[in-house]
Amino acid sequence: MGTDVSQFEATVAETIGASDRKAVALATGGAALHVAALIAGLGPGDEVIVPSMCHLSNVQAILATGAQPVFCDVDDETLCIDPHRIDELIGPHTRAIMALDYGCYVCDHDAIGALAAAHGLRVIHDAAHSFGSSSNGRGIGTFTDICMFSFDPVKCLTAVDAGVLMLADEDEQRFARQIRILGSDQPPEVMYKNARTWDYDAVRVGYRYHLSNIHAALGISQVAKLPRIRANRQSACTRYAERLQGYDSIRAPFNCFSDMTPFLYFIRVPAELRDGLRAALKDEGIDTGLHWRPAHIHTYFTQFHRGPLPVSEAAGSDVISLPLHSAPMSDEVIDRVCDTIVKFLR
Ligand SMILES: Cc1ncc(COP(=O)(O)O)c(C=O)c1O
Repeated sequence: MGTDVSQFEATVAETIGASDRKAVALATGGAALHVAALIAGLGPGDEVIVPSMCHLSNVQAILATGAQPVFCDVDDETLCIDPHRIDELIGPHTRAIMALDYGCYVCDHDAIGALAAAHGLRVIHDAAHSFGSSSNGRGIGTFTDICMFSFDPVKCLTAVDAGVLMLADEDEQRFARQIRILGSDQPPEVMYKNARTWDYDAVRVGYRYHLSNIHAALGISQVAKLPRIRANRQSACTRYAERLQGYDSIRAPFNCFSDMTPFLYFIRVPAELRDGLRAALKDEGIDTGLHWRPAHIHTYFTQFHRGPLPVSEAAGSDVISLPLHSAPMSDEVIDRVCDTIVKFLR
């Protein structure tokens, strides 16, 4: 961890337009979520409301602190946490809401922020899917409580692996910087000159979660490509939307890309046809993804509390992520995917 890491942090903050907060870089998005959970002060006996349509690292970050997840349902259109379902899950042990921007949508952050303020809760905003996107004119990462980005190998922008927390509070920035390097007080200003100290002192529990210069250098070069990557992904999603509109058996995002650097283009089809459709696409050499099996059905997570989860359960068995790349995708490529889908569903 040295010069490139500080430059990567500055580049991320500048790119998203952060004025009142700083970026703290970590080894992965999962590590960043764990640190976010510690910043939120989570511990045994605490509960965190988290959508069941989430990445395993969301639940594991909560569990790593000794707190427990409470699974919440998602909005039927966006598959982001449904603010209308959060209220009924807030109880005396609730400490935080974990909100994930999903695919090519962002959450209703105003509603979530208002609920959190009304109940004195922290918001951990997982923006792994939404770096370079905005919400009502505000850059993602510039306005939510504790915001996390991932730059893992399959994200829109990759550093091969990296995570970032956007933090407004200086004490929380210092806490994150100590925790990422074994709980030691090695001053980043020294390390960021590619120097190291030998008289460091461990002042708290910590982890080996710091980012290396090599990953940071890759991240800096990728962030510079954001405008091109955004345009390529928006254009691919727009073509998918044009080609997949008007079929009763296909639900998909049709018009939400202008503020987004879309991470996933997903469709929903009748559940009984989903696996057959994926196999038909595979036969044509077209790979697809599943984001995700809902968390509450994973063996270890069945023990945790939940609200009613009809949308998460439906989405878990009817959603498919279609091919989407940061490099340009030709109309021919997208049309071949769409033609295969339409032919199968007919
Ligand atoms: C929504 C979400 N959150 C968190 C993560 C974890 O990030 P990382 O892979 O950088 O640890 C991912 C990774 O795929 C993700 O999609």
